[in-house]
Amino acid sequence: MGKCIGVLTAGGDSPGLNAAIRAIGKSALNSYNMQVIGFRDGFRGLMENRTVQLQSDTLSGILTLGGTILGTSRDKPHKMPVGSKMQDMTEVMLDNYHRHHLEGLICIGGGGTQKNALRLAQAGMNIITLPKTIDNDVAQTDITFGFDTALSIATDAIDRLHSTAHSHHRIIVVEIMGHKAGWLGLGAGMASGADVILIPEIPYDVNLVAEAIRRRRHRGKNFSIVAVSEGALAKDDEQLFTELQAKKKKAKENSDEKKLKKVLDSLSQFKAVQKKNTLLLSSKLETLTGLESRLTILGHLQRGGTPSAADRILATRLGTKAVEAIAKQQYGNMVAVSGESTKLVPLKEVAGQRKIIPLDHPWIHSAIETGTCLGEEISLHDIM
Ligand code: F6P
Repeated sequence: MGKCIGVLTAGGDSPGLNAAIRAIGKSALNSYNMQVIGFRDGFRGLMENRTVQLQSDTLSGILTLGGTILGTSRDKPHKMPVGSKMQDMTEVMLDNYHRHHLEGLICIGGGGTQKNALRLAQAGMNIITLPKTIDNDVAQTDITFGFDTALSIATDAIDRLHSTAHSHHRIIVVEIMGHKAGWLGLGAGMASGADVILIPEIPYDVNLVAEAIRRRRHRGKNFSIVAVSEGALAKDDEQLFTELQAKKKKAKENSDEKKLKKVLDSLSQFKAVQKKNTLLLSSKLETLTGLESRLTILGHLQRGGTPSAADRILATRLGTKAVEAIAKQQYGNMVAVSGESTKLVPLKEVAGQRKIIPLDHPWIHSAIETGTCLGEEISLHDIM
């Protein structure tokens, strides 16, 4: 056997991870005569040296499985909970990396993983990453795997909510994942014909949302579907959040511990209230429109189960490219999707960035043209 490479999956799981692991394993074994070691539970397994040898039998039959056979975690190399403390365990990971004489390590994950992988690359490991997340918010790639499957699940769920909203003449507010980006919310909202779509990129005015629902009622439509991304904020809240962030930055710059503690307290209070954001929105809409309203939070359903055909293909393409990049020693890169093709993007250009929906994106254009309320008075003129 030739060289040995490692692979780990980190961050929230997403459909297509096993397809990527399979592609990495099979192409390494079949095309490059390389051995593959999987680390369990993300960066934690690399620290604890918990491994599994990925051989033909381990890789067989996993293409269609949801989740990740390796397990995952949100642990970060430089801030790992060890005992009761957070510790920088990068050196321990580096030792384990060398213990297995790895030629390179493939880290599969979302935005957080790209940052952590860059840290490991800077510590001396040969790193290649793949972009996966249902949020589709990794910078420098057209798409991440997991997104297509989650989009179908969320769309199907909203389709089902339509008939019950219609029968009961209700508003149904449906909360969709996506972290601080609106790709999943906007995509699922558009695909299911939601009447209102609220996304983090466009802070909303609840009065405009209520007005749109009342207008529908005047046209004889006594029900409405309001698709809300989990990160969407009302305008006032967005302003408050921006102010708190600015105060936090200033307190840090001035090393003002007292002020910093106060701001951090306010921020955590703000976040606690925001967790109930969609519940509050639902009850406000009830008051403002006189229609009954119900809230459905789709939650982790959107991340579970078998990947779509598109995600299986994408994960397979990216997985084989990652192994090729290691064989060519093109380290320190993420394998990104660019149109019909793939390309390598330096991790430095990916880490710490978030791909949100630009206001002039064609999806937003079409949503406006089809009369969807986006919670703000935006005209095509404003965004073009
Ligand atoms: O990043 C994927 C994601 O599902 C986000 O959409 C969501 O905000 C987050 O993970 C939830 O994380 P957890 O599974 O750790 O609660």
